[in-house]
Amino acid sequence: MYTRQDIEQLDRQLADAAPEELLRQLLARFEGRVALSSSLGLEDQALTDMIARLAPATRVFTLDTGRLFPETYRLIDRTNKRYGIHIDVLFPDRQQVEAMVREHGVNLFYDSIDKRKACCRARKLEPLARAFLGLDAWICGLRREQSVTRQQARRVEWDEANNLVKINPLIDWSEEEVRAYIAAHDVPYNRLHDEGFPSIGCEPCTRAVEPGEDLRAGRWWWESPLHKECGLHRR
Ligand code: ADX
Ligand code: SF4
Repeated sequence: MYTRQDIEQLDRQLADAAPEELLRQLLARFEGRVALSSSLGLEDQALTDMIARLAPATRVFTLDTGRLFPETYRLIDRTNKRYGIHIDVLFPDRQQVEAMVREHGVNLFYDSIDKRKACCRARKLEPLARAFLGLDAWICGLRREQSVTRQQARRVEWDEANNLVKINPLIDWSEEEVRAYIAAHDVPYNRLHDEGFPSIGCEPCTRAVEPGEDLRAGRWWWESPLHKECGLHRR
């Protein structure tokens, strides 16, 4: 078991380590009890590439909400083939989703913040809780620059909401650094990123952004930036 102090110390020790070095150390430390949570976004693809070279047996999982873009499914396949890995695809509970849709309709998320959160809960949080079974730590592609809700995140932190160590190797990276890594290592990525989609989630809750707009302006664009978290990254 780790205490909050252990994790804060680990974060301080690794303050100057490059993402690959941080991953090298933490993948060894949490071997068999750590997984990458991937949305197949640019950050997660860079992390998949690093992990495939450092410790290819590391589990990578993705939450398939049932509402993803066709391009995302193609990318799961391309990524598996490229790295010889098998991304674990987790589905929501059928009965829970069917009951929700029966009561509120298929596109309930546009009706209210509460309904949007209920949809994220059923389609993301329920499978995420199953993904965590047997884990001590999870790796995410969060970057501070992405949103006001992510300013306080650390490279290694105690995830109170989920009772796990959370590892954010790219927390300090800029979008340019992520894109440079993807290009330098020829990492497969979602073509929508070249069509105005810097951040990609579920199809009905994601739109393209205009040049100069905020990175996550196209996610749940009808909501205020302060509410724009689906619950995966509660603080
Ligand atoms: S979200 O919470 O608003 O959807 P975002 O798309 O910025 O998050 O992704 C941030 C990080 O959350 C990703 O780098 C990834 O680690 C995790 N994540 C987001 N969506 C998924 C998903 N569908 N499956 C697995 N992990 C995800
Ligand atoms: Fe539902 Fe939209 Fe959340 Fe996806 S992002 S789970 S479609 S509310």
